[in-house]
Amino acid sequence: MRKFLISSSILSADFSKLGKDVKKVLKSGVDMIHIDVMDNHYVKNLTFGPIICKSLRNYGIKSIMDVHLMIKPVDRIIPEFAEAGANIISFHPETTNHIDRTIEIIKKYNCKVGIVLNPATPLSCLKYIINKIDVIILMSVNPGYGGQLFIKNIYNKIKDVKKIIDKNGYNIDLEVDGGINKNNILKVAKSGANIFVIGTAIFKEKNYKINIKEIKNELKLFKI
Ligand code: DX5
Ligand code: ZN
Repeated sequence: MRKFLISSSILSADFSKLGKDVKKVLKSGVDMIHIDVMDNHYVKNLTFGPIICKSLRNYGIKSIMDVHLMIKPVDRIIPEFAEAGANIISFHPETTNHIDRTIEIIKKYNCKVGIVLNPATPLSCLKYIINKIDVIILMSVNPGYGGQLFIKNIYNKIKDVKKIIDKNGYNIDLEVDGGINKNNILKVAKSGANIFVIGTAIFKEKNYKINIKEIKNELKLFKI
C-alpha cells in the first residue's frame, strides 16, 4: 500500500507572500509542493518560470517540488527547472514530438519522471514508456486553471490505471490533479490514487491548517 501524499498546488497561494504561505502549508501537514507552470500557449494561462523554484529554495523550502509543466514545446526548459530545484518533472505527452526523448532528458537531470494525462487522453500512450516513469498524473480537470470542478469520469480512469500498475507490479505513484477537496478525496483514494494535488481547497479562506486537517481526516477513513 503506497503512502498517501498531499501535493499542494501553489497556484492558489498568496503570491505577495509566497514563501511564507508555502512554509505555512508544509508546517500544516502537506507533503510536497505542486508547481503549475503554464505558458499561455499549451494552456490559456501564464504563471511562472524556473525562478519560482529557485526563490523558494533560497527562502529555505526543502520539500519535494512536484513540477507540472504545461508548456509546449517542453524539452528546452526541463534542465532549467531541474537546476532550479525541481524533484519531479511532469509533462503532457501532447507537448513533445518525442515522448521517450523527453523522458530521457528528465532522467538525465536526475529528476523523477511524471507523465500527465488530460481527462480525454487515452491510457494507450503509456504502453511503451510505462516502465520508464515514476508518476502517472491523471488530470481531473482540464489543465490551465485552479478552482475547477472534479470531472467524475476520472474515477474509472484512476481504477483502470491502478489495475495496470498492480497487474504488472510497477513501482509507480498515481497522482490526481484538479478539483480535489475534503468531499471527494476519499473516493479518489479508494479508486486507487496515492498522491493528491490540491490548491483551492487548501488555500481558500485563510485557515490552511483547518482545511488540511479536514482533508487528511477524510483519508484516515480509508480502509484497505
Ligand atoms: C490545473 C492545475 C491543477 C490545479 C489544482 O491545470 O494542474 O494543479 O491548479 O488546483 P485546484 O485544487 O484548485 O483544482
Ligand atoms: Zn497541476
